[in-house]
Parts: sequence; C-alpha cells; structure tokens
Amino acid sequence: MRVLVLNGPNLNRLGVREPDVYGHETFADLAAECAKVGAELGLEVDVRQTNDEAELIQWLHEAADLETPVALNPAAFTHYSYALRDACAMLTAPLIEVHLSNPAAREEFRHTSVVAGVATGTIAGFGFDSYRLALRAIAGLTAPR
Ligand code: DQA
Repeated sequence: MRVLVLNGPNLNRLGVREPDVYGHETFADLAAECAKVGAELGLEVDVRQTNDEAELIQWLHEAADLETPVALNPAAFTHYSYALRDACAMLTAPLIEVHLSNPAAREEFRHTSVVAGVATGTIAGFGFDSYRLALRAIAGLTAPR
C-alpha cells in the first residue's frame, strides 16, 4: 500500500527552526524514520515537503485521483487555508492530520484547524512519534479484513 506523507511550509527547516518546540532532528531524519516505520508496517511511504500552497494542493489532487492514504502536516496552512481544506475534502482514502507540537497548547491562532473537520483523525504533540502513530493508524485502517 502506497502512502503519502505530506508536509507544509517551514518543515524543511526542522533541526534549526525553534528547536525548543520542534526538536533538533532534521527533515531528512523525519523522512528516513517515516520510510523505516512504513516498511515495518508494509507501507510504501513517499515523504514530501513544500513551502508552496499550490504544490501541496496538487499533491492532494494526486492522492484523490489515486485513492492514496495521506498523513498530512499542513503546518501553518492548518490554521487558515480553506483551499487546502477543500482539497482534503476530496480524498476518499484515510487522511490523518499530524502535528509535531500540540497546537491546542500554544498560541490562540493555532487552536483552529480548518483541516481537522475533513480528516479521519488528528495526532498532535508527540514529535516524530506523531508521524509513527499516523502511519500505524493508516496501516490499521487500510488492512484487509
Ligand atoms: C505544526 C504546528 C503549526 O501550528 C505550525 O505552524 C507548524 C508546525 C506542528 O507540526 O507542530 O509549522 O504543524
């Protein structure tokens, strides 16, 4: 089963970006970890990051067309991008919203997610484990029964 792990703006700066909030590991570390955990779960994981809202929406269209499950960290787009939400609403396979930090415990503007209402579920606040848990959720939701 193919899975897209999509990441929004500034996540390419992991490791140097506010390390007290996001930790010292880099985006390359995160991508490697997702590939490893995915392989253990029998998933073929394709990890991508962009700072461009249009590109992220294009990837969601691809996921909609191919019925691919998605783990999505929309980063700051979480809080205001209705275009991203509309793209997420087209998905038919599971969509897990992922955050490294716990936005509910941070600034007020982070308390709103425009994506949460069209996601299968949300995992937030566990650092890289948020992604590991999201991949486990996708493996469980897509397992043949
Ligand atoms: C984030 C939380 C967002 O509020 C923030 O804008 C990010 C990262 C997280 O993973 O904790 O860029 O999505």
